[in-house]
Amino acid sequence: MLTIKQLLMMFIMGATFSVAAHAEYINKNAMLYKDQNQKESLGKIYVASQVKVLSQNGSISEVEFTGFAPEDSPLVYEKPGVLMMGFEGSDFADYKVIGTQVDEYDTEWFEVVIKGYVSTALLSEDKNTILQSGKVLFEARCGACHDLHHKEEFVPNVWPSILDNMAPQAGLSGDEKALIEKFLQEQ
Ligand code: HEC
Repeated sequence: MLTIKQLLMMFIMGATFSVAAHAEYINKNAMLYKDQNQKESLGKIYVASQVKVLSQNGSISEVEFTGFAPEDSPLVYEKPGVLMMGFEGSDFADYKVIGTQVDEYDTEWFEVVIKGYVSTALLSEDKNTILQSGKVLFEARCGACHDLHHKEEFVPNVWPSILDNMAPQAGLSGDEKALIEKFLQEQ
């Protein structure tokens, strides 16, 4: 039998843990590393993706990203059936599969978890501030040749191919393209 005191201790320890593991957002495309020394990279984690912070050791944080990938795909998206980039590794076999989900088109998506280390400076608490900087960039770079297109003009899954065409026109870097893409897809 557990005493009241033991139960109380378990409750307090549980509460402390849940406060420590919290959600943050990647504020710039970044490499996710296998180890704290940041020697071996697992792949690229995309701007505005949500991660769970597991532990923090000064300038380095251990994080976990949960996303959705088609079978055998190294590309992991934020949601099943929505082509919002979350993580890009090199091999589906590296991912830990925790479940499957079927989208509205009957396509099966694998829910995968990727754990690794990033610089703490690449984490932000507020996703809106990140998306707002995407809006500023979009307004500065996408209205030179034609009127600015409204984000609702295209569904989230169409914006990536438009940006594949327009990023070279606007001279965007890979990071700038990813940020504008996330802003336009968030509807
Ligand atoms: C250097 C000029 C230039 C810049 C800068 C530019 N565009 Fe365009 N855009 C074009 C031209 C020309 C077309 C029409 C022909 C085409 O679709 O390629 C176009 C067409 C489009 C269309 C319509 C596509 C369709 O299928 O109806 C969208 C949406 C668009 N641009 C978005 C953007 C975004 C977002 C940016 C910023 C990343 C951007 N453009 C920057 C020249 C530009």
